[in-house]
Amino acid sequence: MDKSNVKTLIWDNISLKLIDQRKLPFEEIYVDCKTAEDVGLAIKDMVVRGAPAIGVTAAYGAVLAARQYTGNDEEEFITFLNAKLKMLGNTRPTAVNLFWAINRMKGIVEKAISWRNPYPSDTGLIDAIKDKLAAEAKNIEREDQEINLRLGKNGALIFSAKVDKLKILTHCNAGALATAGYGTALGVIRSLYSDGKVENVIVDETRPYLQGARLTAWELYREGIPFFVISDNMSGYFMSKGMVDIVVVGADRVAANGDTANKIGTLSVSILAKYFNIPFYIAAPVSTIDINTLDGSKIPIEQRDDSEVREILGKKIIPDYMPVENPSFDVTPNENISAIITERGVIYPPFKENIKNMIEKQYGKYK
Ligand code: MRU
Repeated sequence: MDKSNVKTLIWDNISLKLIDQRKLPFEEIYVDCKTAEDVGLAIKDMVVRGAPAIGVTAAYGAVLAARQYTGNDEEEFITFLNAKLKMLGNTRPTAVNLFWAINRMKGIVEKAISWRNPYPSDTGLIDAIKDKLAAEAKNIEREDQEINLRLGKNGALIFSAKVDKLKILTHCNAGALATAGYGTALGVIRSLYSDGKVENVIVDETRPYLQGARLTAWELYREGIPFFVISDNMSGYFMSKGMVDIVVVGADRVAANGDTANKIGTLSVSILAKYFNIPFYIAAPVSTIDINTLDGSKIPIEQRDDSEVREILGKKIIPDYMPVENPSFDVTPNENISAIITERGVIYPPFKENIKNMIEKQYGKYK
């Protein structure tokens, strides 16, 4: 097996190639997105998934959207672009990085227009916006890689005084595949591993979509990090046997009070961890913190297609006449979270106050 670094997405300045995460670990193929619509479909269909990766992908979707406009009417161009950005924003509702990235791209357009305004005779605005959007998408991708490296180091620092190796449990996939590279929760694990601090990783399979069994296990295997996969209902057993020292998971949206939406099942793991007195960490970039969402009850939870529960890898296990439900995320209340690891440092309780301080340091005051 090729153990070189996995490329979640490849931008060749013409199209965006996404590793098809629906096919892993059995096939390593890339899906070629040539239009914003291709990108929207890839996000919706989970070719690409994971909050930061969705954000970076949408940013490139905006570039493709702008390039799809071939006319030279500025107003028409902006209307065209906004419609495509809206379409991209309608793909998945929970991960805030999607909206964060789209807003950042919109900011580039607004800035270009406001710079142009005093010079209405300037005819190159549309081309300038196309170029600026491409540059910004590349920035977002590069920044995400840098952020994850810093975040990973910050997470590992928490355990710098620890002599014994750690037994770590993780849920879903918050690895290189869920980001532009290295990962968030898996970034912390990678960083700990390179410090010689990982004894073993327990990977929740993460039904219904199996991001743990198919994707996290694949990443850990490629890197030679020791792990084993369990089905989701086994985590309490392993905690009760003293086989879990810490839990580290990613996040799709952290509310202003620290309540955190992540893959369905995370809430149950957090409750078990609390019962067994096991520290429970969220690893997420600052862009996943949504200060406009006051608490977890306001986070929109995506309901996905029945078939994901009804079937496993295309094989039906529940007949169509039986009802199923498929909420894709749940919210872990802040009181179950020991700390939130970000690229700008580790946030400890009280979360409301400490999140506010961190965000104000980065973006200025908010009410
Ligand atoms: O439905 P998914 O696979 O997009 O959900 C992914 C998760 O819940 C991840 O844990 C989260 O996005 C963090 S990824 C760094």
